[in-house]
Amino acid sequence: MGKAQEAWGSRLGVILAVAGSAVGLGNFLRFPGLAAQYGGGAFMIAYFISLLLIGIPICWVEWTLGRYGGRAGYHSTSGIFQVILNKPWGKYLGVIGFIVPVCIYMYYVYIEAWCLGYALNAFTGRMSMEGMDYGAFFGQFTGASSDGVAIHFGLGDVGIFVLIVYVLNFYFIYRGISKGIETVCKFAMPALIVIAIIILARVLTLGTPDPTKPDQNVIAGLGYLWNPGDIATGLRNPQLWLAAAGQIFFSLSVGFGVIITYASYLRSNDDVVLSGLTASAANEFCEVGLGGLITVPAAFIFLGAAGIVGQGTFGLGFNVLPQVFAHMPGGQIFASIFFLLLFLAAITSSLSMLQPGIAFLEEGLNINRKQSVALLGFVTAIGTMFIWYFSKDLKALDTIDFWVGTVMLFVQATILVIIFGWGLGIKKGWEIAHEGAEMRIPDIFKFIIKFVTPAFLLIIFTLFMLQNVFGWNYSFSDPQFNPTGYVRDLIGGEGQAPSYVARLSVGWILIMSVFTLILVNIAGKNWNRQNSTND
Ligand code: ALA
Repeated sequence: MGKAQEAWGSRLGVILAVAGSAVGLGNFLRFPGLAAQYGGGAFMIAYFISLLLIGIPICWVEWTLGRYGGRAGYHSTSGIFQVILNKPWGKYLGVIGFIVPVCIYMYYVYIEAWCLGYALNAFTGRMSMEGMDYGAFFGQFTGASSDGVAIHFGLGDVGIFVLIVYVLNFYFIYRGISKGIETVCKFAMPALIVIAIIILARVLTLGTPDPTKPDQNVIAGLGYLWNPGDIATGLRNPQLWLAAAGQIFFSLSVGFGVIITYASYLRSNDDVVLSGLTASAANEFCEVGLGGLITVPAAFIFLGAAGIVGQGTFGLGFNVLPQVFAHMPGGQIFASIFFLLLFLAAITSSLSMLQPGIAFLEEGLNINRKQSVALLGFVTAIGTMFIWYFSKDLKALDTIDFWVGTVMLFVQATILVIIFGWGLGIKKGWEIAHEGAEMRIPDIFKFIIKFVTPAFLLIIFTLFMLQNVFGWNYSFSDPQFNPTGYVRDLIGGEGQAPSYVARLSVGWILIMSVFTLILVNIAGKNWNRQNSTND
């Protein structure tokens, strides 16, 4: 490509960077929320099956394809797919590899700002004030109570924190792969694990804080999340499988287009098999071993089951937990470091969502780092401002999260695994994966990657669409279709007018998609020109 190639500084650095991308809000908020909602036992079985059949295999696929593309000088999904498939249309299959991380970044960074804001507000004692109305604070700070209400810039408002996280993200991304991303992750990952262990020790030594409520103790709190419950009934619930598979994608950052880009900066013969597995294992440790033991048990100990039931991810993290910390001895400091932990986990993930965009703009449009950072900063800022303004019930955030952060994620993961198993071919893919490898992938995964993973994804995705989009009642004898919230938001339904914010959000996704298609087309012309000059 004619430019000096960027590269990771060390093997530990790249593993920490991929683990940093994976470990995020998903580990400490989304996972415990889902496990509590679906009942620990059944959810964990579906979760681990999804980890083995889609999470780890697609991780290996992304690491392998990424390093392969990097050798040819490409770092974006579009460029890498074009090289692998050796067809001009290959680049269009990579379009989602730009849209997904860039659009997820737009709302993820907004939540990252909440984390920093909550950390500072907890530190100043605001979160432990007598008579504090946590629900009202949450509504005002995040803007969930009404559109436009969060656009303020005082210390108790989110505005200043949105600006800070934007500056931080773009400063580090501008510094580059090794000096920026790797440096942040080398500091943030160990720091967040130490903080999580300190908070875990606090939670596990809480005993029975209120003697008048002997049932609310540590063991019961852990049991609430982890007792197996009725496994057989749970596993028959398709929604549980969808939730478990979706969590695996979101948590491991699989299908985001992130790992493939990160792996493209590896050196030609760096190991991908053991490194990929290590990064996934680090994510699972943080998710199941730390995230799963902190939030829900702590909330149960102080508020009982009634305080947890029906709380979504955000309700749990930003409404319930501040109340929990307020009850806890040393709560002010533990709340501060807990939200700092969330912020560190979030920034290492949000940085990873910017790099695929930067890589694509640089190599596709032949622009330099400054220009690509400015362009991506401009585009993402429009998206974040949209989500920040249309904040009532977090409608814009939730709509984009559903259509991009869930639906497109499935599609992108399916494309990846099919390109590896069928486009590149499992035999060639296996050889490439094992170049420089420090362990062998068990041969059974050849079969899994070629057949089981695509089939599993297809089944889950079909069920997902049938349930979440078409609202099928899963009955063959008396099938009924009642489109659910996300679709009714767009087209209206019985007694429900369409939501103009949901429509605008989907419109924004469409604009981003057209914009990306145009850019990919321009990139293709540039690449052709370069290749014919090189020949
Ligand atoms: N993998 C990131 C998370 O879990 C996106 O939050």
